[in-house]
Amino acid sequence: MKNIYSNIYSFNRKILKKTINHLKQGNLVGLPTETVYGLAGNAYSKIAIRKIYKIKRRPKYNPLIIHFFNAKSASRDVKMNKDFFKLYKKFSPGPITFILKKSKNSKINSLSTGGLNTVAIRFPDHKIIRKILRNINFPLAMPSANLSKGLSPVNAKDVFEEFNKKLGIIINGGNSKIGIESTVIDLTGKPKILRPGVISSKEIKNSLKKSLSLRKSKIKSPGMLKKHYSPGIPVIIGKKPKESNHAFIFFGKNFKKKENYYNLSKNGNLKEAASNLYKTMRKIKNKGYKKIFISKIPNVGPGVAINDRLIRASK
Ligand code: TXA
Ligand code: MG
Repeated sequence: MKNIYSNIYSFNRKILKKTINHLKQGNLVGLPTETVYGLAGNAYSKIAIRKIYKIKRRPKYNPLIIHFFNAKSASRDVKMNKDFFKLYKKFSPGPITFILKKSKNSKINSLSTGGLNTVAIRFPDHKIIRKILRNINFPLAMPSANLSKGLSPVNAKDVFEEFNKKLGIIINGGNSKIGIESTVIDLTGKPKILRPGVISSKEIKNSLKKSLSLRKSKIKSPGMLKKHYSPGIPVIIGKKPKESNHAFIFFGKNFKKKENYYNLSKNGNLKEAASNLYKTMRKIKNKGYKKIFISKIPNVGPGVAINDRLIRASK
């Protein structure tokens, strides 16, 4: 029997070399991170960046996150400040993305920043991606490895489902531990969260020892305006389904077991719920359910990030 997943590879020295060569030639690869799987290309290469926008069908104005091994490797491309160093020390490598001003002699391709004079940078925490980043001399532009507006992938097969054989290499690094995208924080002025994640505003406030901006800004988070994170079927929040071909997602112990019922966390743990969110929605969609109903999720800690994604998915 032919292996349909022939572009999914386990990680070893040989595939490390092959991946690096692939990236050097301006090609794209699917890579695991602790948050969600990414679609990686050389951030200094116009050819690679063009491919990312094309294959994702992503609007040109929505900039990409640039991934580095550590602060030193990013120092030529962005202007770092005190707030950055405080948060970097506390949370990186990890699920947080910083918006900083682009430096004058930055080599980051301007297509990847959507023409802005700022750059989003992140230091991902997964041993495979760290190994790759340590062995290349360019950063990786890496959006989530899904078609624009859809659900982010949390394992190698999800990436395959999105792009099939269009990618030469997808590396299997298991299930993404965090399961939703990084917290995005703008540090170019008064710190402001643009996209909530499992690192909460409270944790960030405590590390910075100052309050965050709550100002609404449209232009600053170009990717956050639209319908997004959609499983491709309607999502209805705060109601239970009445039909058996509609699925129900809930959280905690207060619901019965039924075939079309899916629990994000039996213990009512919001971090666990976040890690199960995309996995569960993708499973429901693939089983052929026509709609997803979902109970209210407490709006605290990782719950803020879950609700952010659900509201956009329901648009
Ligand atoms: O966890 C993650 O962050 C994953 C993994 C693969 O690292 N990546 C990810 O990338 O979620 P993406 O492209 O799906 O989302 C990037 C977000 C978008 O909302 C985009 O608008 C925002 O970051 N962003 C990127 N550059 C920006 C900038 N200069 N200013 C404001 N927002 C920016
Ligand atoms: Mg995305």
